[in-house]
Amino acid sequence: MSTKKRTAILISGRGSNMQSLVEAARAADYPAEIVLVASNRPEAPGIGWAEKQGLVTAIIDHKQYPSREAFEAQLQTALDAHGVELIALAGFMRLMTPAFVERWRDRMVNIHPSLLPSFKGLRTHERALEAGVKIAGCTVHFVRAEMDDGPIIAQAAVPVLPSDSPDTLAARVLAAEHRVYPAALRLVAAGGIRSADQKVTIIQHSGETDSLFSPAI
Ligand code: GRF
Repeated sequence: MSTKKRTAILISGRGSNMQSLVEAARAADYPAEIVLVASNRPEAPGIGWAEKQGLVTAIIDHKQYPSREAFEAQLQTALDAHGVELIALAGFMRLMTPAFVERWRDRMVNIHPSLLPSFKGLRTHERALEAGVKIAGCTVHFVRAEMDDGPIIAQAAVPVLPSDSPDTLAARVLAAEHRVYPAALRLVAAGGIRSADQKVTIIQHSGETDSLFSPAI
């Protein structure tokens, strides 16, 4: 019997991070298996890609539900139906209720395109350029009730160039996202981390100090 963690990916849009997770999960030794891709937006381009891959997909259009709770109840039904053990949010643009977040505590991860705790929320790249930071990046973290908050699992850094626009910076960060997210999900699914006091410790850290990925990948 497979010991891979049964994982759902939730999207709202393009789904390029979903794609990187799906592709990583094809490796025989990857500890997570993508058993469901769900979108809250019927028109999300990522859903089409997932269908073409033959993945199980679900569209749970939040606009069809009278409340967040009703939407989440339907989502939970889909997660239960597929025996989901881990959730990876990948460009999922809905805030979850504290009850849902608590139910999935330390079993739901998200990727955010900044070096948290800097630049939570939207327009991260524009705001990073406005602030004049010289290093930008992305963060994979466990989800908590506050937006873009929660114990940090992994981060990747990229340089900010003087010629950058929000779009060129976003593209550089996105390339890093596609590398760090599969690596972080691998750690979570394999049980390679410890979470206590709101902090994640990487059990088998390579100790590498000159990598722009931490933990190094
Ligand atoms: C990514 O930048 C991710 O960090 C953020 O939303 C964007 C989603 O892009 N949460 P994609 O749908 O994965 O291509």
